[in-house]
Amino acid sequence: MSAKNIHPVFHQLLTRQDKEELLQQHATVIWMTGLSGAGKTTLARHIELELSKKGFLTQVLDGDNIRTGINNNLGFTEADRYENIRRIAEVSKLFLNCGIICINSFISPTIAIRQMAKEIIGKENFIEIYVNAPVEICEQRDVKGLYKKARAGLIKNFTGIDAPFEAPQHPDIEIRTDQLNIDESVQKILEYILPKITYSEK
Ligand code: ADX
Repeated sequence: MSAKNIHPVFHQLLTRQDKEELLQQHATVIWMTGLSGAGKTTLARHIELELSKKGFLTQVLDGDNIRTGINNNLGFTEADRYENIRRIAEVSKLFLNCGIICINSFISPTIAIRQMAKEIIGKENFIEIYVNAPVEICEQRDVKGLYKKARAGLIKNFTGIDAPFEAPQHPDIEIRTDQLNIDESVQKILEYILPKITYSEK
């Protein structure tokens, strides 16, 4: 019923193209998936810094931050993770339409969840990066002490321990963070994304 009384206005608004021209960049969503502790957030921060030095406007969206704000009512059941990613994909789309490059780091553990995000965002706007480190390495790093808690049974449904992670089958980029250092990882990502975000009249 209520949907019928909603009248979104699009025709009077500036378009994404107008905003990309203003910012002199092409917007995209850089979607980093991987286990907790694989290095997604670290890479996101470094990529943002490098892009900013080159004059690109970006926005980092990150699991821990988003889950303390807009998604603070969600947990880690499959349904809640799905809703978490759905909202993030919708938020990313707003940034995209504003001409801004979104750098997202979310475990986004299943192929179906990432497929849903890709459909909302549009596949032409979605760069999938698999930030890959074996679970044993992530567990050794245990930056936040969460693997230890999960092993002790204090956290249920922890990805990689008692909740699944399905690796992407065809990511645009795969970064083995146990084999490359941060600089090498960032360079590999920049090489791929710079041609896509550098402004040209289309
Ligand atoms: S997702 O699965 O819904 O994509 P998201 O990336 O938002 O997860 O959040 C993951 C972060 O939440 C982890 O980096 C970790 O700090 C924290 N966390 C707390 N509980 C869990 C859990 N059960 N599984 C995975 N991460 C958890």
